[in-house]
Amino acid sequence: MNFDQLIPQVDSIIQGSSSVDEKLLAICTLLEANVEYYNWVGFYFRNGDKEELKLGPYVGAPTDHTIIPFGKGICGQVAVSNQNFVVPDVSAQDNYIACSITVKAEIVIPIFVNGENIGQIDIDSNTPDPFIEADERFLEYVCAQVSKILS
Ligand code: SME
Repeated sequence: MNFDQLIPQVDSIIQGSSSVDEKLLAICTLLEANVEYYNWVGFYFRNGDKEELKLGPYVGAPTDHTIIPFGKGICGQVAVSNQNFVVPDVSAQDNYIACSITVKAEIVIPIFVNGENIGQIDIDSNTPDPFIEADERFLEYVCAQVSKILS
């Protein structure tokens, strides 16, 4: 995957005049449509002052996991670790919340606003072990751009 060709489209979504949620959904749509091993793409954000994440805009199969307590699952762990979490094989994870039996791998990248971890982008893949460093760098870029429209 050549992520460089997606950067101008990410930038143009961020700079557009639509609402924040419309922009976030457009980013999910762009990523899911252009990266063949991105099969579910969504955002989770801290739910007010609570120690939990709430599902935001997403593209892919509907999930029951609209609220995830801090520390639970891959997403909840990133909420407390403040670090990227790349899971090549979800079946090898004890602290994992399954959304669909088709999912083989997952990547979660935190979003920081003024240094505070306020949410994340979460991507599920039906392909085993698909993520490389370029995914992390690209998704960090996406999260940094998203941070600008949240602050
Ligand atoms: N698998 C995630 C839950 C969210 S779904 O992937 C949409 C987790 O373990 O946190």
